[in-house]
Amino acid sequence: MQLSEKQKSLVEDLMSQEELCIEKYSQYKNLAKDEELKNLFGKMREDEEQHYSSLQHLLEGKCPELNDKNHAKLEYNPVAAYAGNCNTEDKAHDQYLCTDSITTEKYISTAYNDDLFQFGESNVRDLLNNIQTDEQKHAEMIHKYKEINKMT
Ligand SMILES: [Fe+2]
Ligand SMILES: [Fe+2]
Repeated sequence: MQLSEKQKSLVEDLMSQEELCIEKYSQYKNLAKDEELKNLFGKMREDEEQHYSSLQHLLEGKCPELNDKNHAKLEYNPVAAYAGNCNTEDKAHDQYLCTDSITTEKYISTAYNDDLFQFGESNVRDLLNNIQTDEQKHAEMIHKYKEINKMT
């Protein structure tokens, strides 16, 4: 499969956004106060690494096969750490990390949705659509985390 110059630059742009996500979630995993949230950021970072590597293959003209062993597909049921009125400083800190992450996921999810229209091959569209679903799932998991911790 041969990508056009335009398609290559779209894939490269998505790769640099995935790189930012990997970097962000590595940092946020260290910064988060709650263990549950640390684990969530760690899992999301693994997904972003997988996305990056899929895009790398795509850039080389090899569309990777979709696989189902994806963390984002699992049901997420976080345990609340901030249900009471304690740790208000830590809670505000972790809430900021969550809100910022949702904004990032929303942005990258939109990018995948826009870019897949530039590809004719259905396996490439399926791949990009699959990654987009992962990003939406990431936002959903963070949302669940915020909800259970009463971060409004
Ligand atoms: Fe990603
Ligand atoms: Fe993501």
